[in-house]
Amino acid sequence: MWDQRYSSEHYVYGTEPNDFLREQSGLLAKGGRVLCLAEGEGRNAVFLAALGMEVTAVDASEVGLAKARRLADEKGVHIHTEQVDLADYDPGHERWDAVVSIFCHLPSVVRQRLHQQLVNALKPGGLLILEAYRPEQLDYKTGGPSSAEMMMTEATLKAELDGLHFDLLESTVRPVIEGTGHTGQGAVVRLLALKA
Ligand SMILES: C[S@@+](CC[C@H](N)C(=O)[O-])C[C@H]1O[C@@H](n2cnc3c(N)ncnc32)[C@H](O)[C@@H]1O
Repeated sequence: MWDQRYSSEHYVYGTEPNDFLREQSGLLAKGGRVLCLAEGEGRNAVFLAALGMEVTAVDASEVGLAKARRLADEKGVHIHTEQVDLADYDPGHERWDAVVSIFCHLPSVVRQRLHQQLVNALKPGGLLILEAYRPEQLDYKTGGPSSAEMMMTEATLKAELDGLHFDLLESTVRPVIEGTGHTGQGAVVRLLALKA
C-alpha cells in the first residue's frame, strides 16, 4: 500500500520537515546519531542531516526510501536508509542520541513492543521526539489512519514509554498542512521524552 502511495513523482507529505520537529530541533546536538522511524520519503531525516546530524531513516517502503535518498542528494546531504518492518525491528541498545517518530502509526501491538524497545535503544540523555494523531482525528478527516487503534493518546504513550522522563506531553488541535497527505486541522498528541 505505501509503495503504491509513494509511487508518484510528488512527495506525499511534502519535502519540508514536520512543524513540531522543526520547533524542537534545537534540542538535538550536532553530530548526534538520530533514528527516524517510519520515515517514508525522508523529509524529516533530510532536514536533520542538513543540521549536521548522522541520520538513519527506517521504513517498510523501499519506494519511499528511494525518494528519501533522492531528496538527500538534492539537498547535498547524506542519510542512511534501511528497509525494515517495525514489527520485527531491533533498534539496538543505547545506540541513539535521539529517536524521531512523526506520524508513525502502527497496529497497537506492534507499537507497544516498539515503544518499549525505544527506552532501551536510547543512550542515557537521549531524546524521543514524537507527534502522532489522536483518535479524535477520525472526526477531522484531514489525514492519518482510518482506525483509532493505530492512533495514540497521552495515556497510551505514558504507559508504553515507561522508563522515560516526559518533558512535554500534550494534546492539541493544530493545522497540519503537509503535502497532499495531511491537509488541515488535526488532533495530535506530541511529546518530548528523555532517558535519564
Ligand atoms: C504517515 S507516513 C509518515 C511518514 C513520515 N514519518 C513523515 O512524517 O513524512 C507512515 C509511514 O509508516 C510506514 N510504515 C507503516 N507500517 C510500517 C511497518 N510495519 N514498518 C515500517 N514502516 C511502516 C509507511 O511506509 C509510511 O512511510
